[in-house]
Amino acid sequence: MLGATTGTTCGLERLMITIPAEPSHLSVFLFGAGRVGTAAAELLRRNDHELVGVASRTPSSAERAARFLGCPVIPPEEGVAAAELVLLGVPDEAIADAAGRIATSLHAGTVVCHFAGAFGVDPLTAAAGLGGRTAALHPVQACPDVATAIERLPGSAWGVTCAADLEEWAEELIRSGLSGLPVMVAEEARPLWHAAAVTTSNGIAALLALGEAILASIGVDSPAAVLGPLAEGTLANALDDGGGGATLTGPIVRGETPTIARHLAALRAHAPHLVDPYMTMSRTILAAAARTGHLQADDESELRSLLGSS
Ligand SMILES: NC(=O)c1ccc[n+]([C@@H]2O[C@H](COP(=O)([O-])OP(=O)(O)OC[C@H]3O[C@@H](n4cnc5c(N)ncnc54)[C@H](OP(=O)(O)O)[C@@H]3O)[C@@H](O)[C@H]2O)c1
Repeated sequence: MLGATTGTTCGLERLMITIPAEPSHLSVFLFGAGRVGTAAAELLRRNDHELVGVASRTPSSAERAARFLGCPVIPPEEGVAAAELVLLGVPDEAIADAAGRIATSLHAGTVVCHFAGAFGVDPLTAAAGLGGRTAALHPVQACPDVATAIERLPGSAWGVTCAADLEEWAEELIRSGLSGLPVMVAEEARPLWHAAAVTTSNGIAALLALGEAILASIGVDSPAAVLGPLAEGTLANALDDGGGGATLTGPIVRGETPTIARHLAALRAHAPHLVDPYMTMSRTILAAAARTGHLQADDESELRSLLGSS
């Protein structure tokens, strides 16, 4: 299998560690036919890899993915035995079980990967113990469905965690197989790597939801249409000019405490249920402004007492 003839093999016969060959024209098996797994499999297919089959928990999911990907549904053990790269597209909590289930069918050197952000290779231990190579490949992208994932994954960053002798291979797979940008992440850094991605993605959506709720409280019919272009402009500023910290704007950065007090008074009068979320968000903005050195000390202290920040 992968690398067995062209790769480098070291160690004892029983614990053979095989370094995979170039990640081109790989035979790929997908176990867990969800959004990310199916999209990754399709990108690999488009980049000249061969899909040997797909399996999933629910037969109809596997059949749907098989039709989409143009490959057969096959039992996991059979798919793993035929593959040089196994994609575990299952939810985070099912990764360890899935790795255990396929472990005995693996050939030495076959690479098994998952897509979870908060975990490195630890949940794949069962596969590694039986000669497989393991990698955690986390796409830093929001994938609400397969079609959107296929559109957005190219150009996205991927957090890569694997053994040192697999790094070059994994980087090449991300670049040439998935058209992504590989970023090496240490096993112990995975929770913070994932926290950054979640904070950004879910935080942006939650902030928009708060803005929408405030507009809805004064009867604006389509708040997303009002705030969408503003959000796009803010994001463009951050991307063009050095990130969110560098491009923070608005009354808090300018130290305009009376404006924030006016917002709070209006919220207390007309939308008291939104006071807490507004305060929480304003404290987050204040902390970012202070951290990036945007605020005068006296403005910062006035805002801290208004917002109850410590
Ligand atoms: N969605 C995102 O935005 C995103 C972004 C970055 C990373 N990720 C990561 O990508 C991985 C997959 O997430 P996803 O969003 O693609 O999930 P998903 O769409 O919910 O798909 C998961 C798939 O795995 C199948 N499955 C569940 N348990 C299984 C088991 N025990 N054995 C075999 N198959 C099983 C599911 O079941 P059925 O067969 O019943 O359909 C489903 O097809 C996760 O680790 C997640 O953290 C997701």
